[in-house]
Amino acid sequence: MTDEPIVVAEGLRKRFGDTRALDGLDLAVPAGTVCGVLGPNGAGKTTAVRILATLADADSGHARVAGHDVAREPDRVRARIGLAGQYAAVDEKLTGRGNLRLFGRLSHLPRREARRRADELLERFGLEAAADRQVAGYSGGMRRRLDLITSLILRPQVLFLDEPTTGLDPRSRGEIWDAVRGLVAEGTTVLLTTQYLDEADRLADDIAVVDHGRVIATGTPDRLKASIGDRLDVVLDDPAMAGRAAALLRTLTGSHPALDGERLSVPLTTGTVRLADVVRELDRAGVTVGDVGLRRPTLDEVFLRLTGDTPHDPDPGSGAEDRPKETVR
Ligand SMILES: Nc1ncnc2c1ncn2[C@@H]1O[C@H](COP(=O)(O)OP(=O)(O)O)[C@@H](O)[C@H]1O
Ligand SMILES: [Mg+2]
Repeated sequence: MTDEPIVVAEGLRKRFGDTRALDGLDLAVPAGTVCGVLGPNGAGKTTAVRILATLADADSGHARVAGHDVAREPDRVRARIGLAGQYAAVDEKLTGRGNLRLFGRLSHLPRREARRRADELLERFGLEAAADRQVAGYSGGMRRRLDLITSLILRPQVLFLDEPTTGLDPRSRGEIWDAVRGLVAEGTTVLLTTQYLDEADRLADDIAVVDHGRVIATGTPDRLKASIGDRLDVVLDDPAMAGRAAALLRTLTGSHPALDGERLSVPLTTGTVRLADVVRELDRAGVTVGDVGLRRPTLDEVFLRLTGDTPHDPDPGSGAEDRPKETVR
């Protein structure tokens, strides 16, 4: 054992024609933790996972997984990882149990071991009752769970989950989350990609926020949230009052509110504003409001703050000739 992170990516770059899918991506995931790679569609998440899982080559940069270089020792990496994607890769015509056994056999497990492992995983991840039904009749959540446990047959040290809950209903998302937590409790390292801030928040020890193929912020969920702040939303009864209300909110919070229809929204970075004060001050100023509330920032708002408000380019040397700074909308 060493202290080297179990997943390390350094300066990964990958182009598809004119598209820079990865533009110098760095990651470091300590063993036994969950890393949440958070980013919008097209940020480069899948490209990064595919390179780390040895399914694609980077144009430049290096990556090591479980102590082995992904480009030079792909077989050694493959023997130590599991991968489950956004699109479940299970055979519709087989049963759940059949899929797992087949995968076990394809992975060169002895027949008895493949059966034993299939039964154990079905039981552990709550698919026992549906195990002998054709996958064609499974719900989206069940398929995704089956796909996930298929990737566990060989007890991987590192599990890559590429948007494991995208498109799932809340209950199925919760089931996937429970499964991930269970794995981590056993010591598996998980790198998961997501477009959902709340998912990264609930599951990840550390979050890497990715945009345009590079990491634009890292930290624990709490640290990132603290740096971004909750949002204060004020819904106005009369949109004509927007100017007066905005000025007041600016005084109270020190930040510029954004106006969207009748809704004013402002980040609270200092965390000292009390809702009761806001309501009272608005009332005193003659602004009647339909609703006032605090909420977590959306992913859009996180990006707007991380990209729009960042005073410096993290890598001014390499990107000078290309894209505009504005990255949201
Ligand atoms: N095989 C490919 N051919 C061409 N462009 C690609 C290919 N794969 C990804 N891209 C482009 O690279 C960028 C990053 O894609 P991807 O890694 O899939 O992002 P994400 O998974 O975060 O949505 C996108 O602009 C996407 O269109
Ligand atoms: Mg993707």
